[in-house]
Amino acid sequence: MAIQNVGVIGCGLMGSGITQVTAQAGFNVTVVEASDELLQRGLGRLRQTLEGLVEKGRLEAKAKDAALARITGSARLEDLKGCDLVVAAMTENHTLKNETFAKLDRICARHAILASNTSSCNVTAMAAATTRPGQVLGLHFFNPVPLMKLVEVVRTILTDDAAVKTVTEWARAVGKTTVQAKDSTAFIVNRLLVPYLLDAIRVYENGLASLEDIDQAMKLGCGYPMGPFTLLDLVGLDTTMFVAEVMFEEFREPRYAPPPLLKRMVMAGHLGRKTGRGFYTYH
Ligand code: 3HC
Repeated sequence: MAIQNVGVIGCGLMGSGITQVTAQAGFNVTVVEASDELLQRGLGRLRQTLEGLVEKGRLEAKAKDAALARITGSARLEDLKGCDLVVAAMTENHTLKNETFAKLDRICARHAILASNTSSCNVTAMAAATTRPGQVLGLHFFNPVPLMKLVEVVRTILTDDAAVKTVTEWARAVGKTTVQAKDSTAFIVNRLLVPYLLDAIRVYENGLASLEDIDQAMKLGCGYPMGPFTLLDLVGLDTTMFVAEVMFEEFREPRYAPPPLLKRMVMAGHLGRKTGRGFYTYH
């Protein structure tokens, strides 16, 4: 089955990135947000990003206009009925995701594939909430979506080979490299990345070194593009805490438990770049 029309649920950090790369690759995209206000905010940010790329000479004005013309915004899930593939990239909330998949199953055509851009929710539970579990899988993108090359294709014990093949081809068509992982909490990247980020917070809490020096050490000592605190601020402290909590619940290993400082920063609303303050301050 060839994918032509793609639906994206959520136009936040991840959803707007997925919408951008999909439209730039020539697919029609319908992006759905919970309200008109959130939709306009998300689409406005996406437009600004593309305009910025034109100003820098990295994108032709014509290509920007063509990409924007391929995007339709909506606040109604029902508008995804013509999609061949839907990628759900809304807030990480298990109940909301399972309910949304049950609704999508009623709305979308029988051939449509339903994917979740989740970092930690249980894809098998989403599949079981539908009458097409063979066509439900995880498609995990990385932040910032337009720049990060990887997509994890996550299959459950119910996923059909044909669905994996179709979405793998589609992910390649939007310029990504894929790896396959089983539906086990956090998949490959977060399973390894999250304990590292939590350890960085612990060594900082223990007074080993300053934030700046820990970041510098990992950048220059290991060749990482960003230090752990810059990356935590990029990913979002709330997102990291959520993933850590789900991992802790699944594996019951102390190394996945969110450190006290992370919890308190989330309570204080210091969520990273998106709120202007995390481990660092942004203007
Ligand atoms: N679309 C297309 N191009 C874009 C763009 C966009 N939305 N935004 C920026 N660009 C372009 C810029 O214009 C720039 O072009 P130029 O070089 O011509 O000016 C180019 O991309 C690079 O931009 P930057 O200068 O900002 O890029 P850096 O070289 O500083 O790299 C980075 C930025 C790619 C984010 C790099 O620092 C990096 O790889 N960091 C690590 C990120 C990471 O680990 N992400 C994974 C997080 S984990 C996750 O997401 C999982 C989740 O489940 C928690």
